[in-house]
Amino acid sequence: LTPQDMVGLTVLVTAGPTREPLDPVRYLTNRSSGKMGYALARMAALRGARVVLVSGPTHLEPPTPVETIQVETAAEMHDAVIRYAHSADLIIKAAAVSDYRPESISTQKIKKQAENLVIPLQKNPDILAELGRRKGQQQILVGFAAETHDLDRYARNKLSSKNLDLLVANDVTLPGAGFDCNTNIVRIFAADGSVEALPQMDKNKVASEILHRTIKLLRTHRGGR
Ligand code: C5P
Repeated sequence: LTPQDMVGLTVLVTAGPTREPLDPVRYLTNRSSGKMGYALARMAALRGARVVLVSGPTHLEPPTPVETIQVETAAEMHDAVIRYAHSADLIIKAAAVSDYRPESISTQKIKKQAENLVIPLQKNPDILAELGRRKGQQQILVGFAAETHDLDRYARNKLSSKNLDLLVANDVTLPGAGFDCNTNIVRIFAADGSVEALPQMDKNKVASEILHRTIKLLRTHRGGR
């Protein structure tokens, strides 16, 4: 039986990749499937939370008791997240936001040119860093990091530079972890300096483990409610 320990809480989850258009037929994206974020949204709703899911393009069915907002670009995800952030007790940013977007979007299909084509890219806003800067006293902020190397160093850096409470890191080169996989192998870094390495498990189970830890943090922040 799922514990009803999130009743009364509002949870904002982001999931999936973003898609950055280049011209009417092309875009820049990444390999995120959205499975981890959808599992988090589903499990939080099962535990009684009100859940808002802001999702980039995925092939997944939106979880039923969840308000799902479909977005495409990082800019759209940014706007949707900022709109809901102030009312959220817990924000989990599982989306793989594209760090860059094409500087301009061509209204016509870009035609074949010389041997090399250079496409100028512009940095997207870091949504999570912005949430960290404006984090409410009672708010818990959880980020994700998908890395291919130097996982621990990047994870600890992200945790502190983005002002997070938890950072869930996975090495996407490991079999059984990361993109489009039904399982994940994560390490959970906490703001108190602790780190836990979880074994390979189903993404629903990883979601439950993450939620369990956020509930403990929320209780401590709110004086043992
Ligand atoms: O720095 P990096 O992109 O690896 O950090 C990953 C975390 O930051 C994820 O939680 C992701 O959702 C978030 N992020 C974001 N906006 C960006 C880039 C990443 O919210 N532009």
